[in-house]
Amino acid sequence: MQIDIKGLKKSFGSNLVLEGIDLTIEDGKTTVIIGQTGCGKSVLIKHIIGLLRPDEGEIVVNGVDITKVTRKEFSDILKNFGVLFQSAALFDSMTTGENVAFPLREHTNLPESRIMEIVKEKLAIVGLKGVESRYPAELSGGMKKRVGLARAIALDPKVLIFDEPTTGLDPVMSDTIDNLIMNTQKRLGVTSIVISHDIPGTYKIAHRIAMLYKGTVVLYGSPDDFKSTKDPIVRQFLERRAEGPLQVEA
Ligand SMILES: Nc1ncnc2c1ncn2[C@@H]1O[C@H](COP(=O)(O)OP(=O)(O)O)[C@@H](O)[C@H]1O
Ligand SMILES: [Mg+2]
Repeated sequence: MQIDIKGLKKSFGSNLVLEGIDLTIEDGKTTVIIGQTGCGKSVLIKHIIGLLRPDEGEIVVNGVDITKVTRKEFSDILKNFGVLFQSAALFDSMTTGENVAFPLREHTNLPESRIMEIVKEKLAIVGLKGVESRYPAELSGGMKKRVGLARAIALDPKVLIFDEPTTGLDPVMSDTIDNLIMNTQKRLGVTSIVISHDIPGTYKIAHRIAMLYKGTVVLYGSPDDFKSTKDPIVRQFLERRAEGPLQVEA
C-alpha cells in the first residue's frame, strides 16, 4: 500500500510541529523515519493511523485522502494497518493469547477455533511457542515486543507501523527485533514504517530513510544516499555529534 503524505501541517497551540511534510511511503518497502527527539515523528505516524487530524494537508492511501473520511470509513482502512507502539502496549489483564486474539475478536466474526489457530500461527512467526496462557508481566521485554508484533500482524495488515521498536532494548535484542522486522516484511510483503534512533539498525532494515528536521523532511533517500550525503545537519545527526548546525532544545 503506497501512502502519499502531502503538505501535512500540524500545530499544538503555538508549537508548530509539522510545517509541511511531503513524503511518499513506497509500497512493499521499509521506510525508516529518523530525527531528534520531539521533532514530530510520533505525531506524523499518529496522523497516518487517524489518532490526530492535520491542520492542513493530505494523506492519500489507495487514492483516498484518509484525513477527510468519516470514522466508519476510516475504521475500514485502519484494518489494513498493524501498529506496534514503543511500550508494546499489551493489555496486562489479558494473557498473551488473548492479546493476540483481541483484534480478531474485535474486527472479525471468525469462530473461536479458527482464532486460536491464527493466534498460534502469528506467535510462531515471531518465534514464540507455548506462551499463550502467560500474562505480560511474566514475559521479558523482548518477548513483550514479539507479542506486540504478533498482535499487530493478527489481521494480516498491508502496512506495519513501529514506533521506536528497539528503544530501551540491549544491542543484541535490538538486532533480534530488527531481524524480526525484516523477516516479517519479506514474508508478508508488507509496507513498513519504522521510527528509529538506532542508526546501524536503520541502515540494516531500511529501503528508504526520511529524516525530519524543523517540521519538514530534510533528506529522503536510500541508506547509500544517507551514507554519502554532505548535508551538514544530516551528517551531524548520523555521526551523533553535539557540535554542528543542528539546533538542540535543551
Ligand atoms: N497531543 C499532543 N498535544 C500537544 N503537544 C503534543 C501532542 N503530541 C505531541 N506533541 C508535541 O509535538 C512535538 C513532537 O512530538 P513527538 O512527535 O512525540 O516527537 P518524537 O519525534 O520524539 O516522536 C513535541 O513538542 C510534543 O510535545
Ligand atoms: Mg516519538
